[in-house]
Amino acid sequence: MIAYVARLAFGKLLVEDSRSFSSRPSKGSSARLRSCDSGLISVFAVRILDLLRLALPRPRRRSRQRPARGPVIVRESRRNERQRLMADDRDIGNDRRPWTADDRLDAAAFHRNHVAIWTVLEKFLRGKTGDVLEAGSGTGQHVAFFARHSPGITWWPTDLNDHHLRSIAAWTAHENLANVRPPRRIDLSNPGQLAEMNEGSGALLAVFCANVIHIAPWRVAEGLFAGAAHCLRPDGRLFLYGPFKRDGRHTAPSNEAFDAGLRNTNPEWGVRDVDEVAALAQHNGLTLAEITDMPANNLILTFERRSE
Ligand SMILES: C[S@@+](CC[C@H](N)C(=O)[O-])C[C@H]1O[C@@H](n2cnc3c(N)ncnc32)[C@H](O)[C@@H]1O
Repeated sequence: MIAYVARLAFGKLLVEDSRSFSSRPSKGSSARLRSCDSGLISVFAVRILDLLRLALPRPRRRSRQRPARGPVIVRESRRNERQRLMADDRDIGNDRRPWTADDRLDAAAFHRNHVAIWTVLEKFLRGKTGDVLEAGSGTGQHVAFFARHSPGITWWPTDLNDHHLRSIAAWTAHENLANVRPPRRIDLSNPGQLAEMNEGSGALLAVFCANVIHIAPWRVAEGLFAGAAHCLRPDGRLFLYGPFKRDGRHTAPSNEAFDAGLRNTNPEWGVRDVDEVAALAQHNGLTLAEITDMPANNLILTFERRSE
């Protein structure tokens, strides 16, 4: 293209040159010399242009877009990306990555689920004061977000993992939240630890636990329910977020695949059934009061004290 334009420009100059020469009165040898000069220049210029054309990179032709016809084909890479995102929704273990230079971790799933979860919690917490404990807080993003939206509530984040405890503290400091207590190390499989922590705070208004009981042995669910039953005040609630089976069946193929992956990682892990969790609640004096559908085939199970 460049060579073509240059050739045109040069050619134009040469033509104009030759025209100006020919428009001048031609006189013998000087006219021949000029015409000879112009011929030489022309040959020389073409040679330079050829060299230029060889030296310069060829511009790539733009492929014309074809009009859309038939179904859109989802490429394999995009399908894998979708599956990866679906898996991320369930496990912060794989997508943990440093957020900044401090200890804050970022879970991709948080960005997709925190608003939906908050709409359920907020309905119960609105206008109330008291203490809410989060079991298995992970990165600490949920507790930070919820605390920012509920200044009347004191939040108690907990986790087993030291890495996560540091992230929770870093998020609280970053958000400058006065209504979040320092994160505490609690092993949910030990119900005594949850009860022990509560002694200082009085009875809890709520316990919130997201994405924990399927990525842990069943004894963690047992400890959670026993601890919550001990700590909740009479009007308190336990909110449990995650994927669940209904009547022994998975609610979506993605949940089934996720469950198989969990059990493959650890035979003690796995997506729990709503009925078995409800039975565990009953055993601890709690009752399943509400089931709320959440995005990406998750649920929030809400438990309250069983009225005698
Ligand atoms: C998949 S993450 C979910 C974190 C967070 N709730 C969320 O939804 O983003 C599971 C969390 O449970 C914690 N956890 C696992 N076993 C636990 C146990 N026995 N006691 C307390 N926390 C536990 C892990 O350290 C991790 O932070």
